[in-house]
Amino acid sequence: MNKEKLAKTMEWPPETPQPNVYPLSWETVTEKAEEVWQASRREVWDPAALPWDTLDVESYTWEQREAIAYWWSLLSVFDASAPPVFAEAFIKTYEMHEEDAIRRCFFSVTQDEQNHEQMCGLAITKLLGASSYLNYEPKTELGQCLKKNVAWLYHNGGRYWTGYKQAVPKYSLAVLFSSFLMGEIAAATIFHQMAAGCKEPVFQEAFKNIGRDEGRHMAICLTLMERDYPNLSEEEKPIITKQIRAGYLFLSAVLFEPPEDFWDLPDDFIPTQRQAEEICREAGFGVPTYEGKKENWKNAMLNLKGVLDKYDTEFPAIPEVGITGKEINDIDMEDIIPVF
Ligand SMILES: [Fe+2]
Ligand SMILES: [Fe+2]
Repeated sequence: MNKEKLAKTMEWPPETPQPNVYPLSWETVTEKAEEVWQASRREVWDPAALPWDTLDVESYTWEQREAIAYWWSLLSVFDASAPPVFAEAFIKTYEMHEEDAIRRCFFSVTQDEQNHEQMCGLAITKLLGASSYLNYEPKTELGQCLKKNVAWLYHNGGRYWTGYKQAVPKYSLAVLFSSFLMGEIAAATIFHQMAAGCKEPVFQEAFKNIGRDEGRHMAICLTLMERDYPNLSEEEKPIITKQIRAGYLFLSAVLFEPPEDFWDLPDDFIPTQRQAEEICREAGFGVPTYEGKKENWKNAMLNLKGVLDKYDTEFPAIPEVGITGKEINDIDMEDIIPVF
């Protein structure tokens, strides 16, 4: 450490070593980012201020409560990892001296994701009367099987944090955006479906708000892609193709069904989940059916393909929903960047 007082020996200080965590500059070139930031301020909402008094958990059977809380737990495997994931990306925007409005956009995403996580927590604790499905004592046989499902989901989700932390410094923001966009398209899709299919006012309103947030997150990613993708390097393109396939495999767990060779799950996992989803639907909590999910997930993938085609970036094959493209086989949990 240089303790020598440089200020006594020179008029201007030496150059600050880069990358340095903060830019001390407030330039905004991408105006669309400023607009999204402004929208994020107008559309701030508070999960705790939703009409919770209209939710009478006693009007549901224990099986229904456990099934609905299971769905929120499944969602939180994705949404509860989003705040730290975006906080990490937010720091990167400072290190990279990103535009001022873009730094703020990432700040807003981090805050939104924190809200989404809080929403999952409120729903679960109200339905179960416990702080987590993992420490809840199930009341029914199905509830017991669902608790095991949650534990396996948590085990799988937990595997990708180390990989993500290694990926963030390694990849350009442009590469990271493709994964984020994948997550945002997925998220916007599921929340619009859920808002349309839920009877309970508090859930309806939450899904509407979350869906609107995700729409903004999508806009941020698209704006950045528009700025950066025309200058994508040839090395970056195959990484993006691989990330899209990884994103498909990872996010399928909540958007569709977890693919067997990627997710490490017991044989009774899917039958148990299907049973719970059927109970959710009967209780007026509109989890889409297998076919409904498949159709929507496919459309989301086709949307994303439309974006990537514009930038001459190959799309991976997604035979599960009938999309042809580049075959990608060597994907591991440690490879994934996508978030919600
Ligand atoms: Fe989210
Ligand atoms: Fe998001």
